[in-house]
Amino acid sequence: MEFENVKKIGIVGGGVMGGGIAQVMAIGGYEVIVRDLTENIIQETKDSMFESKWGMKRSVEVGKLSFDNCVEAMERVSFTTDLNDLADVDMIIEAVPENLELKQQVFQELDEIIKPEAIFTSNTSGFVIEEIAENVLESRKQLFAGMHFFNPVPIMKAVEIISTSQTSDITTDTVTKVGEKAGKVTGQVADASETYGFIVNRIFAVARAEAQLLVDAGIASEEDIDRMMVGGRNWPVGFFGERGGIGQQW
Ligand SMILES: NC(=O)c1ccc[n+]([C@@H]2O[C@H](COP(=O)([O-])OP(=O)(O)OC[C@H]3O[C@@H](n4cnc5c(N)ncnc54)[C@H](O)[C@@H]3O)[C@@H](O)[C@H]2O)c1
Repeated sequence: MEFENVKKIGIVGGGVMGGGIAQVMAIGGYEVIVRDLTENIIQETKDSMFESKWGMKRSVEVGKLSFDNCVEAMERVSFTTDLNDLADVDMIIEAVPENLELKQQVFQELDEIIKPEAIFTSNTSGFVIEEIAENVLESRKQLFAGMHFFNPVPIMKAVEIISTSQTSDITTDTVTKVGEKAGKVTGQVADASETYGFIVNRIFAVARAEAQLLVDAGIASEEDIDRMMVGGRNWPVGFFGERGGIGQQW
């Protein structure tokens, strides 16, 4: 499906990531429908999208979003517990928990319900996209890609776009442009099998392991490592989640 034809996006799983993705897609101009399992969970998703620290109301308060755009975005979002309500979406962004069997099962169900030309994407943190797509029809596989957002979604700019050997160029192009329309910067990644993760988390894991080696060998303390990474590389926080004693610079 071409980018211009994507009007309505279905988000499957309205948790930490799904709520944030729904928020940025609605602000980006898309009609959004979020599916989760219970009304209680959906209420939590609504609270987080509209009322939380990173929610739309706060965006208005800090001047990042106009009041009118906020109201329009809110009007574009709907919620459901019934998967069948997603039948007419042009694109799916799946954000259910990181469990391969669950994701495979969710996409199998979606494949039966959703129109054949709709794009399917997963926000997996690192599973092989082709494996997640295992149960969908062959014809859907060219429409299948990864779309890896970062937490908190309304704040973090990056989205990794993962294409399998079967993902069509049009699908990659559409998914990339949808991410950009939602205000994100995108990076292209090939679906890989040996190591879990894509660009950011793989690189971070290596650097984090090296930092731990420095601590374990008694070469530097956690606080000194953090202070050096914050002060020497301008990282917002260090590996150990602290600013190493350096105060906020902004
Ligand atoms: N949390 C992060 O920092 C982060 C960052 C990047 C990517 N991810 C990835 O995003 C995905 C979601 O993670 P999360 O942290 O948002 O998890 P979460 O547990 O906060 O949310 C998952 C939601 O999916 C719902 N769910 C479960 N089965 C469902 C189904 N069949 N249909 C619809 N909804 C269903 C759950 O009720 C829950 O609300 C995972 O694949 C995770 O690896 C997470």
